[in-house]
Amino acid sequence: MNGKIFYKFMADFYDIIDVIYFRNYESSPRKAVFDGIHEKEKILDLCTGTATNAIRIAKSKPTARVVGIDLSEDMLEVAKEKARKQKVRNLKLYCMDAASLEFKSKCFDKILISLILHELDEPLADKVLEEAGRVLKDDGEIIVTEWEPGGGFWRKILFFPIHKLEPESYRAFIKKDLYTYFKQHGFQVVSYTHCDYSRVLRLRKLER
Ligand SMILES: C[S@@+](CC[C@H](N)C(=O)[O-])C[C@H]1O[C@@H](n2cnc3c(N)ncnc32)[C@H](O)[C@@H]1O
Repeated sequence: MNGKIFYKFMADFYDIIDVIYFRNYESSPRKAVFDGIHEKEKILDLCTGTATNAIRIAKSKPTARVVGIDLSEDMLEVAKEKARKQKVRNLKLYCMDAASLEFKSKCFDKILISLILHELDEPLADKVLEEAGRVLKDDGEIIVTEWEPGGGFWRKILFFPIHKLEPESYRAFIKKDLYTYFKQHGFQVVSYTHCDYSRVLRLRKLER
């Protein structure tokens, strides 16, 4: 199914993911992402969806400037309503393609790529990483969140709907060695944190 149509139907239910998989904040990827952000930084949340990461960061770090972009107007509507209700002022949300960013080069300190790369076919994921590298400052970091299947019986049961709902690209992506994958895209993995059902990787630009 086309991503825009899928997220049109999913927008109102998307945040259930956080209730089911990430309900324990301390061991969730949301906390691991949040811990990588500092005051005064300029943050770009690529494919922000309902902006769960972006809103938490903007709310808790009032001097940070946070920008979220997404292709789905429906997901962005949910994000804007959440931001309005929580009176978040330092977050800007735009409808934009992550593969063709309308920002100048080297302007963000941190870029979040959360739960998205596995959904993209390979050429599109390549383009998104290339654009992320372009708009990231040389001393900046990309913070990637990805699903991490495996584990015991209950974990396998809870992964069942993810296996079923995710597009074809998911199965190939999830098997990748992410150290090698990101190196091929010009990034070094500087930390790798295992979280509930997921992992969070921090990447820096490789010296060229
Ligand atoms: C699984 S959601 C992830 C949402 C959020 N990052 C999170 O951590 O919960 C994936 C999002 O990527 C968006 N998306 C997919 N392709 C995109 C593209 N090329 N440019 C911008 N957003 C895109 C979808 O509209 C959807 O909102």
